[in-house]
Amino acid sequence: MTTLITGGSGFIGSHMAAFLLSNGREFIVLDNLSTSDTYNLQKLEKKFNKKISFYQVDLRDLEKTEQIFIHNNIHKVIHFAALKSVNESIQYPDLYFKNNVTGSSHLINLCKKYEIKNFIFSSSACVYGKPEYLPIDEKHHLQPTNPYGESKAAVEDLLARDDYFHNQCSTKILRYFNPIGAFDEGLIGERPHGIPNNLMPYILGVVQGTYPYLKVYGDDYNTPDGTAIRDYIHIMDLIDAHRLALDDDRLGLEILNVGTGQGYTVLDIINTFNDVNGIHIPYQIYPRREGDVESCYADATKIRNQLGWHASRNLSMMCADAYNFAMKKNKL
Ligand code: WQD
Repeated sequence: MTTLITGGSGFIGSHMAAFLLSNGREFIVLDNLSTSDTYNLQKLEKKFNKKISFYQVDLRDLEKTEQIFIHNNIHKVIHFAALKSVNESIQYPDLYFKNNVTGSSHLINLCKKYEIKNFIFSSSACVYGKPEYLPIDEKHHLQPTNPYGESKAAVEDLLARDDYFHNQCSTKILRYFNPIGAFDEGLIGERPHGIPNNLMPYILGVVQGTYPYLKVYGDDYNTPDGTAIRDYIHIMDLIDAHRLALDDDRLGLEILNVGTGQGYTVLDIINTFNDVNGIHIPYQIYPRREGDVESCYADATKIRNQLGWHASRNLSMMCADAYNFAMKKNKL
């Protein structure tokens, strides 16, 4: 029996692959390589001296996707594959709906047809939109403010409305906050496709000399230092939550926030990154970025109660591992 990882060459997917390889578990990877490459997977194959079973397939191609189910004894599915740029989704809403929702719908139907018994969906805190209270718990109603968040909420709805995922499958919808960091002190990490929208990959671009300085979007928020607050979580803590979900075969559908419950400002990230790595990240203050919220961090009580999970890696570890990856990057 094997686990299918969709989007397995991406940042989070490849870190899931790293965990499964570290623990000798069987898995196969599906990815259309539209926003990633196989760099991380190649690094993992070399480290673990093991070939990864990889299928370059787009979930919108139902026939090719079904062939993977026919030729593999898939028992569990972790569904990471999605486009995830908020800005891009605003420019190309139709692309985001077709890629994220139609692709997921094909996968969901195949999971029912082939009687998958454990399904994990990679969702996002983006579905909450502008928080009405903090910390955010899973009862907070969904009000996504961009097509990316809307596409994630739409896939959650497909699962929530389907009896199979409540009564014949162990289904976990995991709402990620802000994953950063890297596996194994930087062996693999986040490899943005084009100019990164997200904070940490842009900081790493400054470290590598790709960008002269970091643009800090807004210092006039009602926060301790005026910059926006987010719940940053170490990528391997996020993966640990997936391990527990993968090993939990209790039937039923659960929606779980995956965050530390601790918020940090943009300047906290910059200062910690500088202190931990003994460098100086130049930055300039820019106006607020459209669509950004002032503060967003998780109430992670439910996942602790349901799966016994809590974050164990601190911000210094996130910044050190991310930096180590940036310094090693592209050395296969
Ligand atoms: C964090 C903070 C920015 C870049 C994203 C998306 C989505 C999701 C992860 C999966 C904000 C500030 C950023 C920069 C900056 N992924 N910033 N300069 O906006 O919380 O949301 O979360 O679901 O990709 O929803 O993450 O990293 O883009 O921004 O000042 O160059 O850093 O304004 O305050 P965000 P982010």
